[in-house]
Amino acid sequence: MDQRGNTAAQKTGGALSDAEENRLSEAKTKAEGRSGKVIALLNQKGGAGKTTLATHLAGEFALTGSRVTLLDADPQGSALDWAQRRAQSGHGRLYGVFGLARDSLHQEAPQIALQADFVVIDGPPRVAALARSALLAADLVLIPVQPSAYDVWASHEMVQLITEARVFRPQLRAAFVINRRVVGTVIGREARAALADQPFPALQVEVSQRIVFADSVAAGRLAFEVAPNCAAAREIAALAHAVREMLL
Ligand SMILES: Nc1ncnc2c1ncn2[C@@H]1O[C@H](COP(=O)(O)OP(=O)(O)O)[C@@H](O)[C@H]1O
Ligand SMILES: [Mg+2]
Repeated sequence: MDQRGNTAAQKTGGALSDAEENRLSEAKTKAEGRSGKVIALLNQKGGAGKTTLATHLAGEFALTGSRVTLLDADPQGSALDWAQRRAQSGHGRLYGVFGLARDSLHQEAPQIALQADFVVIDGPPRVAALARSALLAADLVLIPVQPSAYDVWASHEMVQLITEARVFRPQLRAAFVINRRVVGTVIGREARAALADQPFPALQVEVSQRIVFADSVAAGRLAFEVAPNCAAAREIAALAHAVREMLL
């Protein structure tokens, strides 16, 4: 069914471009009232921490009273697997996780955001139509990177895509999040320099390399459920706080 109803496309008989359609859907959302924020974790590089940070951020928002939906836009379905492991092991549901690895993400996510405070998108491991679609839906893109110059450079394609998207969506925000910093070290000068060369800032908050992240996600849980006052939990709380501030 066409959910757009009587849109400009039907009036003029012409097809809308993605940009036009997105502008239309944003205007419609504003006219209808408050809508939640869409946060996309994107980096075409596998292992950067998209799923780890998406599940934890969504969890932090949920635990602090927000209505959250996590959209798994990775065809491999790691966030869905997490939710399934969680259900199977009898842990309560923290937030809804839905598989939406489709190019129609940019149409669905704003609709879902009408019923939520935050929609978190766990991005795909490639730069393709799916990543573009996530970019059309997002208010904020977080690019997780490991703290090396190589990993910053490896996000180049995604950075390029976000830069292009901002030409017709200037309100789209983007920031790097350093993930897997080795505890007790500061990130190297080369990585800092590589980040400084990028068109988007890196958040001050950094997430460290900690076993509890890997272990908890594997068990369908989150770090702060396994160890409520652990350093990992504090880092995620700080990250969620920084994200909220960016979206104010
Ligand atoms: N901060 C971290 N500390 C420890 N392990 C991490 C951390 N971030 C990610 N990992 C681990 O690295 C692997 C890849 O992370 P994942 O979030 O699945 O990346 P992506 O979704 O970008 O492919 C997973 O095994 C995950 O448990
Ligand atoms: Mg993933």
